[in-house]
Amino acid sequence: MDPTRIIYPLFFASAFLSVTGGSHSAVPFLKLATCRDFNIKSSECQHYFPIDMLTNNISNEYKLHLTFYVMTTTAANIVLTDGNNKGKVRYKAVVGGYANTYSWLRNTSDTTVGLDSHKTGILSPLWPTPIVVRQKYDGQLSVAIPGVIDPLLRADASDLEVKSVCLYAWQAESRWFYNCNEDNEYRTMDGYTCVKLQQ
Ligand SMILES: *[C@@H]1O[C@H](CO)[C@@H](O)[C@H](O)[C@H]1NC(C)=O
Ligand SMILES: *[C@@H]1O[C@H](CO)[C@@H](O)[C@H](O)[C@H]1NC(C)=O
Repeated sequence: MDPTRIIYPLFFASAFLSVTGGSHSAVPFLKLATCRDFNIKSSECQHYFPIDMLTNNISNEYKLHLTFYVMTTTAANIVLTDGNNKGKVRYKAVVGGYANTYSWLRNTSDTTVGLDSHKTGILSPLWPTPIVVRQKYDGQLSVAIPGVIDPLLRADASDLEVKSVCLYAWQAESRWFYNCNEDNEYRTMDGYTCVKLQQ
């Protein structure tokens, strides 16, 4: 069954519920209601988001700090490029590839670079997995799953100046949430009812 069929009514009717499972972060559905969302069923980039359209939490430490939430079964791909689309320099983060068992970063020549991870069970079609993508001013790129593993992935990407981002899941349908309101009222779990859904 299409997992979004289950999640949809739950999402809209129960904004105050959040789902949590195992080692996963709990994301309040109330927060997801503040996000923009993007659905895709494709094993390659179909849409490149210009970086200006994404909420970037720039700080003294990071020139890039993006937060996404994804619901999918396997291989959530986040592609960062230096152009309006494919660009010349391209890094791809694959989270929960190989049936949700392995995550890695690849550079423009499709070579796996830096720190990879064999953490299993990061993704779920039933609850949103938060993914944070950060780049330091010296070019170091990292990917984290807040509350679960940080960094999940990390590599030197000093040749990358991000201009656009594309999102998809390889051989799976995926639902992405971005530009969420990350204010405390949406972030804290206090006062929210937690329900655990069986997989
Ligand atoms: C990708 O990484 C490999 C291994 O570090 C390196 O040899 C190669 O030159 C890199 N490719 C590009 C296009 O930077
Ligand atoms: C924004 O970045 C700062 C500094 O890295 C961090 O403390 C804060 O939690 C971030 N906020 C969000 C919403 O990610």
